[in-house]
Amino acid sequence: GATATKIERNSKFATLNSNDISYFKEILGEKNVIQDEDTLLSANTDWMHKYRGSSKLLLLPRTTEEVSSILKYCNSRCLAVVPQGGNTGLVGGSVPVFDEVIINVSSMNNVISFDKVSGILVCEAGCILENLISFLDNRGFIMPLDLGAKGSCQIGGNVSTNAGGLRLLRYGSLHGNVLGLEAVLANGEVLDMLGTLRKDNTGYDLKHLFIGSEGSLGIVTKVSILTPPKLSSVNVAFLACKDYFSCQKLLLEAKRKLGEILSAFEFLDEQSMALALSHLEGVRNPLPPSLHNFYVLIETTGSNESYDREKLEAFLLSAMEGGLISDGIVAQDIQQASSVWHIREGLPEALIKAGANYKYDLSLPVEKLYNLVEEMRTRLENLATVVAYGHLGDGNLHLNISAPQYDDAILAQIEPFVYEWTSKNRGSISAEHGLGLMKANKILYSKSPAAVNLMASIKKLLDPNGIVNPYKVLPQSMIH
Ligand code: FAD
Ligand code: MLT
Ligand code: ZN
Repeated sequence: GATATKIERNSKFATLNSNDISYFKEILGEKNVIQDEDTLLSANTDWMHKYRGSSKLLLLPRTTEEVSSILKYCNSRCLAVVPQGGNTGLVGGSVPVFDEVIINVSSMNNVISFDKVSGILVCEAGCILENLISFLDNRGFIMPLDLGAKGSCQIGGNVSTNAGGLRLLRYGSLHGNVLGLEAVLANGEVLDMLGTLRKDNTGYDLKHLFIGSEGSLGIVTKVSILTPPKLSSVNVAFLACKDYFSCQKLLLEAKRKLGEILSAFEFLDEQSMALALSHLEGVRNPLPPSLHNFYVLIETTGSNESYDREKLEAFLLSAMEGGLISDGIVAQDIQQASSVWHIREGLPEALIKAGANYKYDLSLPVEKLYNLVEEMRTRLENLATVVAYGHLGDGNLHLNISAPQYDDAILAQIEPFVYEWTSKNRGSISAEHGLGLMKANKILYSKSPAAVNLMASIKKLLDPNGIVNPYKVLPQSMIH
């Protein structure tokens, strides 16, 4: 009942033998060839505890050359591999399906250079996002992306999933912010595309193939990324709205009236709030108890405290007068701001604590987005709780169905309905989490057959034996 995916191991892949292990020990050193059961159990299991592989080997390369030697060898032996970063992915892409060798670049975690004038950071792919955030903070800059998994996810994983997160509204996607990268192809060839230029129109821009391809085309080993300056004035408001239409109007008003200082616009419904209150430690609703149906978190980031504050207050006053918000607070200090953020960022964890979690990550036209949630509630009745939140400013709905345990009857009410609805409304079945294993066979709901065929051709060109991250992203039937 957890997933609808049933697949078989591809018999063309070799199984690991003692010669393979000896070879890896020779090139990586004993301690970077992990066969310990506990470590393997956690590397085989995804963050949601929904997908579990049975890999017997985890490799920890320290350099691009080591990654290259590993892949060259695996390709010649037809050994399948799965690139793994912080293993915080939500679609089963980061863990083996069967016995694929896990390759994790977590030891490649050095900052290579930082240019204080341009704000361009060049680093290895295994750097943990939060460490990069601290590194930059000391130098007066920020990362252009931020997400709840920052303490574990790696920049290589972020780039490979084209992670969106909480500030995409302001700084745009990694397709804009990543200026270059280095990747190793399945045959071990190193592609140096580690440019640091804002503008470079020389031929096809191949780095984009690796941004969001979820480790299916090779392993990202280095990244060059444009980072914005840290601005001094940050404000966070937490607001209540009586209905979804008000949230939508509030978004339009926020874009118009807060303009250049708007840095996040997140929403959650009352079911999300109830879940946070019962499953997250130390969380309380900052608004006085009353029947609020929706909550909106607005963050502004600018350079002039009094100007920004004045702008925000004028916006809130007019929203209140116009009846768009029924209550609200502006955080008075950093503690209050972070406790408000914790309500929103803690929702994935609260859902896991609540039991079974069917998770959908959809891009939809903002005006229709909550209709799906309501239709889902009608379909599921008392079978499960429908919890909705997301990056409203980007038209990204996180639709979660929560139940005490996984159950085929629940899944049958959700799928294929959710994908058909999204497709009919010309949305995307993967806004920011990727397709992974969960949705490899669903891509045609969002992309045309011609586009998917071209993707399959690219996959075959870059990885003819199909050894990197098999069973993920594209339907197996289209790759063979
Ligand atoms: P993993 O989970 O290890 O891997 C993800 C995919 O990338 C896999 O397919 C893997 O094979 C591939 N991969 C990893 N590293 C490499 C590499 N070096 N080279 C090639 N392929 C690689 N996502 C969002 O977009 N926005 C959010 O707001 C957000 N919030 C989250 C909050 C929580 C609490 C959690 C648990 C997850 C959240 N996610 C979010 C999902 C996830 O954190 C992101 O997808 C993240 O970018 C994954 O990074 P990772 O290092 O953990 O990669
Ligand atoms: C988020 O925005 O919180 C993440 O994408 C994780 C999730 O969707 O649960
Ligand atoms: Zn998200």
